[in-house]
Parts: sequence; structure tokens; C-alpha cells
Amino acid sequence: MTILAVETSCDETSAAVVREGKILSNAVSSQIALHAEYGGVVPELAAREHLKNLPPVARAALDEAQTSAGEIDAIAATQGPGLPTALLVGFKAAQAIAFALRKPFIGINHHEAHLYSPWIGDFAAFQPNVSLIVSGGHTILVWVQSELKHKVLGATIDDAAGECFDKTGKLMGLPYPAGPEIDKLAEQGNPAAFGFPRPLLADASDDFSFSGLKTSVRYFLRDNPELLDNPQKVRDLCASIQAAIVEVLVAKTIRAAKRAGVRCVTASGGVTCNRELRKKLEHACKKNGFILRLAEKDLCTDNAGMIGILAERKFLAGTSQVPMDQEIISGLTLA
Ligand code: KG4
Ligand code: ZN
Repeated sequence: MTILAVETSCDETSAAVVREGKILSNAVSSQIALHAEYGGVVPELAAREHLKNLPPVARAALDEAQTSAGEIDAIAATQGPGLPTALLVGFKAAQAIAFALRKPFIGINHHEAHLYSPWIGDFAAFQPNVSLIVSGGHTILVWVQSELKHKVLGATIDDAAGECFDKTGKLMGLPYPAGPEIDKLAEQGNPAAFGFPRPLLADASDDFSFSGLKTSVRYFLRDNPELLDNPQKVRDLCASIQAAIVEVLVAKTIRAAKRAGVRCVTASGGVTCNRELRKKLEHACKKNGFILRLAEKDLCTDNAGMIGILAERKFLAGTSQVPMDQEIISGLTLA
């Protein structure tokens, strides 16, 4: 079957065409430059940009896949969670297309799409796993018992890991989103230069907390503002902050995987682009005998390809269709 998928949960306008487990096209228009001026995503502006960008992005996805609307068997869109006004644009546009084409409509949980993104192109290799979903808005540990059956083990109780990268970066004067900048600068920094807290590292739960780390960086910079004038110290700061975030993410993921008794660990979401996180997860999985599946970098950040792939699997499993009159559920949580 051929699915046209749409994703507008935050600041990427994306449309994709998916057929038989393959992503034929995955067009993404990023709004980063627009929101950078404000140091974060402005929901109202995001929604307006989606309105403007979705038609050409959807056209580009269809053209690249050499598919026409007549060949589409079903339409999928992100249902939630996300910014309500942003979600509404893609969700309602996709529903309208489904209505006009008289095709089924499939609403998809954004987290669930991230959760299965490490298996795209190779679902035959699927096995039970513990999965870290780590992005700008969420940090979640999930036990995936079998395909489409999963249980949330823990989540952040305050800031997400990506938010911690972005906000500590903002304190250092780095452009939004600061995650990729910190990743780059940290490469030539000393991760042991400054000792920042590792929140909830020793806590027995599978939950995370990153707001204390952010506050600690804030006070540190208040007391040592001159460090920001020294480029090497900035690199050391980036490496030290990154080390604190990565250590917590890796240690808690490995511990959860041991407890769940799985043989496989997966990770997805924007922060999974972070090179240090990828490297440390690889080392830790090797050391502890886990198979590691990381989402491909271009499938880590928000994209409609992952929405389409999950929609197809759900549709084929007979668990997916959303009645046309169902309202958008922006706070949809991963069960
Ligand atoms: O999944 P995503 O595209 O959107 C959300 O659903 O949030 O993730 C965006 C987040 C941002 O916080 C961004 O700073 C972070 O992912 N990010 C990174 C890197 N690339 C993106 N954080 C650290 N290192 C990176 N290389
Ligand atoms: Zn996401």
C-alpha cells in the first residue's frame, strides 16, 4: 500500500510517501531560522509557517516519490503530542485530503513513531528492547515487549534532555537550537573541566530530571562570567555539560534494559544525533552485551517518514483507523 504522511507537531513541516516499509520521499521544511530569533519555538508562528509550507512540502514529497494523489491508499498524520496549534494544521489538512480522496485516515502518536524509527528498513530484525526517546520536548524510557506493544518505564519529571542542551546553550550565548552547537564545540573541550550534577543518576526510578543541571550551569555562569570570553573555556563548558547529560541518559538506559531482561537497546529523537551520546551508548551496549539500534540521523529529528512507516504497520495490523470526527489530542501520551 502507499501512504501519504504528514508531520507538523513542532517546528518541522514534513510530508512523506511510504510504500511497503520503504520511505520513497521524506520532505522536511525546517523553521529553525524563524524561531532562532526568539531563542525557542513560538507556537503561533510555527502554525502559520505550517499553513504556508505544507502544500509545497506535500507536493515535493509526491513528486519525489513519483506518485500522484490517485495512487495514495491512505493518509496519515501526527495526532499528538505536540504544540496544539501546529498539530492542528497538519492533522486537519491530512483529514481533509483523506475525506476528498475517500481514503482511510490514520492518526499517529508522535512518540510511538520515534519509538519504532530505529527499525525502519529492517523490521524483520525486530526484537524486544528498551528504548530511549530523547528530544527537545521529551525524555522517555520505554520497554518494547513486542512490535506495537510497549510500556513506559520512566520519563523526565521536568525539562527534557534536548531542552537542557538548548537552554544551557542559550545561557552561553549559543544560537537556537544549541544542541548541535554544543555537540560541535564539545569535540575540542575537556569533559572533566567542570563538574556539573548528574540528576537522578543514583535514583532507583527510570525517571529523569534536567532542570537542576540547567540551574547549576546558570549559577556557575553567574559566578564565573569571564569564562564566556575564553573560547577554550566555552568548549570545556560544552563538553562538561554534554558529559553530564550523556552519562545520565546512558546509565539509566542500560540499567532499565538489564531490569527488563531484554537483549536490545534502541534510541531515537533529535538528541540521538548527538555524537557523544551515540558513542557512549555503543560502548556501554558492547560492554554489557546488548545489541544497539540507533535511528538513522535523518530519521532522529522530526519527519513524516517515521509517521508513514508506523501508520502502514498499524494499518496492516488492523489497529489504526481514526474516525473522521475524532478531535485532535495534543497531549496524547505513550501508553
Ligand atoms: O526530535 P526533535 O527534532 O524535536 C522534538 O520533538 O523536540 O529534537 C530536537 C532537539 C533539540 O533540543 C536539539 O537541540 C536536539 O534535538 N539536538 C541535539 C543534536 N541535534 C539535535 N542535541 C544534542 N546534540 C545534537 N547533535
Ligand atoms: Zn520528535
